Amino acid sequence: MEIRELINEFISVFGGSEEGIRVFASPGRVNLIGEHTDYNGGYVFPAALKMKTTIVMRKRDDNLLRLKATDLSGIVEADINNLGAYKGIDWGDYQIGVAYMLSQAGYDIVGADMLYDDTVPHGGGLSSSAAIEVSTALCFATLSNEKNGIKKDIDMIEMAKLAQKAEHEYAGVNCGIMDQFASAMGRANHAIFLNCKNLDYKLVPLRLGGKKIIISNTNKKHALGASKYNERRSECEKGFEILKSAMPEKTCLGDITEEEFEKYAHLIDDETVLRRVRHVISEDARVLKAIDALENGDIKTFGNLMNLSHNSLRDDYEVTCFELDTMVNEARKIDGVLGSRMTGAGFGGCTVSIVEEGSVDEFVANVGKNYEEKTGIKPSFYVTETGDGGKEIIL
Ligand code: GLA
Repeated sequence: MEIRELINEFISVFGGSEEGIRVFASPGRVNLIGEHTDYNGGYVFPAALKMKTTIVMRKRDDNLLRLKATDLSGIVEADINNLGAYKGIDWGDYQIGVAYMLSQAGYDIVGADMLYDDTVPHGGGLSSSAAIEVSTALCFATLSNEKNGIKKDIDMIEMAKLAQKAEHEYAGVNCGIMDQFASAMGRANHAIFLNCKNLDYKLVPLRLGGKKIIISNTNKKHALGASKYNERRSECEKGFEILKSAMPEKTCLGDITEEEFEKYAHLIDDETVLRRVRHVISEDARVLKAIDALENGDIKTFGNLMNLSHNSLRDDYEVTCFELDTMVNEARKIDGVLGSRMTGAGFGGCTVSIVEEGSVDEFVANVGKNYEEKTGIKPSFYVTETGDGGKEIIL
């Protein structure tokens, strides 16, 4: 919805006039390469999208939070003095979870009416939850600072970290920092080259020489098997412990080069753990090569690396599924596709492809038709528009 419509809806739900209404927004992201590396201290390369969560809100004079979403009926209420008590409620736990994490970090949460509008598809692997979390964090931190007369800018990296904490504790997903960081720190027409070990980052211009980024949604919801995700994470930890016995100075898989891995891979007996680690270490190397290629205008190499990334996620990390593999295989059959891979956690959700501008229509028509024939699911396609990270929209 447009902001004007959202403000009208806010007033029809919560009453009053436009006075005191504020608007905050934060985007979803698409990861171009560097998957399942973030929680291993590795590299990622996501871009913030135009699709976003928008919050229209107004402070209240009491201790209540009242939450409403444009696509859901009913209002959820929470007491700001008892924010820890709402874990597991049907809807609103991300929002209240973030408010709780901020209060634990010393922010002064104020009562508010809040209307949420999401344009990031839910469960599609484009970080709809990070968009909700980061916009909520920014909103509450801004109001807290104002209440306490604190004039400094909001530290968006701190917001990303608090949002990640809420995801761990409220959604039960032991996620890395990529999604929240991209939502907080993204910039239109750029992707973020982020070192997840120390959060050093660089905004890299997305100069694709006229090629387009197409996101293809399998419309198979990634029941982000929180359990599967957490299982992969602990397999990586197991692998790292073994390699560390030979290289005690290493602090995470992200510290280990492909050469070092080759040298000590034989120490890992468990074949599954070996494949998981091989994915992470090879993926890290691919990110570095991909950024080099992009900076040199070599989009063909960038695309090849995306293809290799998908193959590794399919064969070694085993987080793709029939729908993701079908979407990627059909994409790769189209002339003018330079690379195609799954994006996000996997097990469903979206793929990302780099496509010559002249092939976009053919891509959407043919991949759409063939994917639907093979899976029985109607897919959705988005020609990607990148956007800025979380911010207040000044009315
Ligand atoms: C999810 C998590 C991220 C990251 C990706 C996989 O999106 O939230 O932290 O681990 O999966 O790369």
